[in-house]
Amino acid sequence: MSITIRKLTENIGAEITGIDITQPIDDAAFAPIFDAFNEYSVLVFHDQDFTDDQQVAFSQHFGALETTVKSNIGGGTYIADISNVDPETDEILPVDSWRIVYNSGNEMWHTDSSFKPVPALASLLSGREVPPEGAETEFGSMRAAYASLTSAEQERLEGLVAVHDFSYSRGLVDPELLDDEHKNETPPVRQAVVRVNPVNGKKGFYTGSHASHIVDWPVEEGRALLKDLVARATRPEFTYSHKWQAKDLVIWDNRCVLHRGQSWDKARYRRVMHRTTVAGDGPTA
Ligand code: SIN
Repeated sequence: MSITIRKLTENIGAEITGIDITQPIDDAAFAPIFDAFNEYSVLVFHDQDFTDDQQVAFSQHFGALETTVKSNIGGGTYIADISNVDPETDEILPVDSWRIVYNSGNEMWHTDSSFKPVPALASLLSGREVPPEGAETEFGSMRAAYASLTSAEQERLEGLVAVHDFSYSRGLVDPELLDDEHKNETPPVRQAVVRVNPVNGKKGFYTGSHASHIVDWPVEEGRALLKDLVARATRPEFTYSHKWQAKDLVIWDNRCVLHRGQSWDKARYRRVMHRTTVAGDGPTA
């Protein structure tokens, strides 16, 4: 099978065609996909009609998968269900239900699992049912934005450590959203502000909605820097917006990419999305 790789924008994203990744593939077939992942940060595949088991099997080529957190309802051990449909009744959930409000946290720019001691390497999002309008997933390259900084700006970031805290970020949605059990599940963690891709040596900064403040800095000063970095990575020249078709699979590199889901008419349209998340290989700070 020979694949075709087409860049989607100058700085981020590529579309891959010519392969059915719902079926088992060998290491030789996976190698160019992994190379493209390291090079382009976001990969788009169309017409991949995954079952959950097939999605898990393909995702495991990238490494061990994260298990889902307690608040995941309707998915499974490895499948995060981030849909607006109740898995038991198959009905659209009320827009003010806990789950919809909770998932709206994904509409802030973030990188998956940066609130865990070992943050995620990759996420694989499968569009099972997608609305006809809205609900794009947007991506911003922290690597390309880092490369655009002056050397002095890059040096200022070197060695900094940020605290990432899920209670902080979900508290921005609604301070009452998480109960103590949820909060205790994800205590604050430390993450390096500059990360290096071990395959190609390219650096990027690392921030997002879970990043609360910088260790040993006044909270507001650190927060302002972390927000400024988000603003830089999400400038139009560093972003790609994915307009979903059913059966798309989109993969992103959480080490160097921010993402967010755009809202849609949640009372009117179903959106069924299943995500697998590949664990990173160790703490960053
Ligand atoms: C996510 O944040 O992982 C999901 C984004 C989306 O729903 O488009």
